[in-house]
Amino acid sequence: MINKKIRKILNKKNKSKIVSLTAYSKSFAKILDRYCDIILVGDSMASVLYGFENTHKITLDNIIQHTLSVKQGIKKSLLVVDMPKNTYGNKKIAVKNAKLIIKNTKCDAVKLESNSRNFKIIKSLTDKNIPVMGHIGYTPQFKKKFKLEGTSSISIKKLLNEALAIEKAGAFSIVLECITPKASKVITSNLKIPTIGIGSSSNCDGQILVTDDMIGLSGFYPKFVKKYLNLDRLVEKAVKKYARDVRINKFPATKNFLNGTKYRK
Ligand code: KIV
Repeated sequence: MINKKIRKILNKKNKSKIVSLTAYSKSFAKILDRYCDIILVGDSMASVLYGFENTHKITLDNIIQHTLSVKQGIKKSLLVVDMPKNTYGNKKIAVKNAKLIIKNTKCDAVKLESNSRNFKIIKSLTDKNIPVMGHIGYTPQFKKKFKLEGTSSISIKKLLNEALAIEKAGAFSIVLECITPKASKVITSNLKIPTIGIGSSSNCDGQILVTDDMIGLSGFYPKFVKKYLNLDRLVEKAVKKYARDVRINKFPATKNFLNGTKYRK
């Protein structure tokens, strides 16, 4: 049985673009929720929040903890959670861990990266009514080095077959990460489920970006990222001002003193 929120995403195929971003905390999720269809608690938190060089050290506990925070900021978007590396190596472990994530966080779906062979693992989850988002192309949990895929007809065919197998396994959507515009077009037009692109052109049913990249906070700005804001500069400006105010005794001012019973402004 397909739930209402997933049905809404499926119904957008060939009608309207799907808007998606990542979030790791309630404060961001609250803002994103007003404009996004899907919010992903991505294991990209590894580099963005924890300063790791890849996503491999992110644990189930990390993901669950951040999802609990994100969930508090969400009223309407579909909440998808990345299954960390090594948490879905076989059917039994995958089902156990996906159930653990869903039970603890009340998220709507999990996302699994494809290693071109784990279709049966996706099927084991969808058979248990666990909604799954697939992920092909550049899959950082399985590929050491970034490489654009879909640059030859053989590679496009391979990606298409992978996407079709994921669809057949019951996934409700699929992330296409860093594949050529031609490959995105072929895959998107051959699938019934929506494709969500990142670095994969506008030939997809929707787009996702890492929010911290998009707002200029992560320091990671490849060509496919459009920076809508330089938040790093704004934060720096505020911190610089605060530091100066403290040093010259301008902050806290009398109006910031607590000397009565009033706590809030
Ligand atoms: O972890 C993540 O943020 C992702 C997106 C890049 C799709 O998987």
